[in-house]
Amino acid sequence: MAERQAARDVIDYTRSDFPPDFQFGVAASSYQIEGSSFGSCGTSHWDTFAATPGNTARGEEGSVACDHYHRWPQDLDLVSGAGLDCYRFSMSWARVLPEGRGQPNPEGLDFYDRLVDGMLERGIKPFATLYHWDLPAPLADLGGWRNRDIASWFADYTEVVGRRLGDRLAATAPINEPWCVAWLSHFMGLHAPGLRDIRATARAMHHVLLAHGRSIEAMRALGMTNLGLVTNFEYAAPADDSVEAKAAANLYDGIYNRWFLDGVFKKAYPPEVLAGLGPHMPEDYEDDFDVIATPVDWVGINYYTRKLIAPDGSSQFPALKEVEGPLPKTLMDWEIYPEGLSFFMRRVHEDYAKGLPIYVTENGMASPDRLAGGKADDPDRIEFLNRHLAEVRRAVDDGIPLKGYFIWSLLDNYEWALGYEKRFGLVHVDFETLERTPKASWHALKKALAAA
Ligand code: NOJ
Repeated sequence: MAERQAARDVIDYTRSDFPPDFQFGVAASSYQIEGSSFGSCGTSHWDTFAATPGNTARGEEGSVACDHYHRWPQDLDLVSGAGLDCYRFSMSWARVLPEGRGQPNPEGLDFYDRLVDGMLERGIKPFATLYHWDLPAPLADLGGWRNRDIASWFADYTEVVGRRLGDRLAATAPINEPWCVAWLSHFMGLHAPGLRDIRATARAMHHVLLAHGRSIEAMRALGMTNLGLVTNFEYAAPADDSVEAKAAANLYDGIYNRWFLDGVFKKAYPPEVLAGLGPHMPEDYEDDFDVIATPVDWVGINYYTRKLIAPDGSSQFPALKEVEGPLPKTLMDWEIYPEGLSFFMRRVHEDYAKGLPIYVTENGMASPDRLAGGKADDPDRIEFLNRHLAEVRRAVDDGIPLKGYFIWSLLDNYEWALGYEKRFGLVHVDFETLERTPKASWHALKKALAAA
């Protein structure tokens, strides 16, 4: 490890601090960067959600986003230019199948074909995600994730993509962050479809895993390899030492972190969560666990923050609330807590994935980065990356089979309901001109990855 610099403009690690096969990458997603109005893309439930006043900050939406649909060669050059090994990207279901089912959109499939070939030409490994939240609106109209049929629709979509691109993908995960697909979108109402409905939530919490399992089965049948599960984690800390706060934090942990892993690796759901969702679960849901638990080849951890959790004094499920914590925060108001990443790498390895390769598939921070004199300095991001890389490095030393680390994100992009203000990129995007400018963090990473 290089001597720690006082100035926060240096990544403290080089490749030689990690095993020779350790991969560095960046992550992004279709709706957040491509521009949903280009290339005969179908309407997704994010287009319709954002079209409803009040749902997103300043009414912002993804019809143009970063115009990655046209500027992808430049963006891939930024990935390879930094010396990164992998690019984690997603395909828009609505771009591939505008109606969600039936006739594919040739322009959509051609786009992903060019994109994947563009990665391979540059020596970048394509890590694909089949669903990063842009559900075709016609399927949302049929109930979306509430409707059990979504598992079959998703398996069919998987086959369309797999047949066309499966031979060239380095790794594939069906669904990004099932908690966001289900809980954030159907219980909290903060993402499309914007519901606040416990019955819809229970169904989405189960169907998202059923769809995951069906998709893995479909890819295996096509002979695709290196198939994974990507879930998001938040470290749930009790707000105080009371028994009640500990129980509330445990419930939060069950909903957010254990539900999905328990389903896939233990064929069960956490009892404290079922205590609330049970009456709303689909009939005979247990019969689906064999499909849900279809073996995967790796697990991806998306990690950003921790939450302090306290009881909310009510008797209504889930009787908990988030309390403001004392640690320094990012522009998302998320506490910076690298120790939580260690906790989840260890938990996934010891309690679930037993020997399977683990990737950190997302980690990063939002900051209010501005261009000044053609440069964008983001010292806080460099510090954030150093602190989390230290945990990753420690996990490798401890024998956890950590195989890669992906930063969210390459570009500043559409941060969903919070719009374009929350800048997560290693590369600054001017959303008027769409011009890209690598930030200090991109330069620091490039230097670190080039160093011996
Ligand atoms: C999780 C999601 O996968 C991504 O879409 C989002 O932008 C980042 N985290 C930051 O919130």
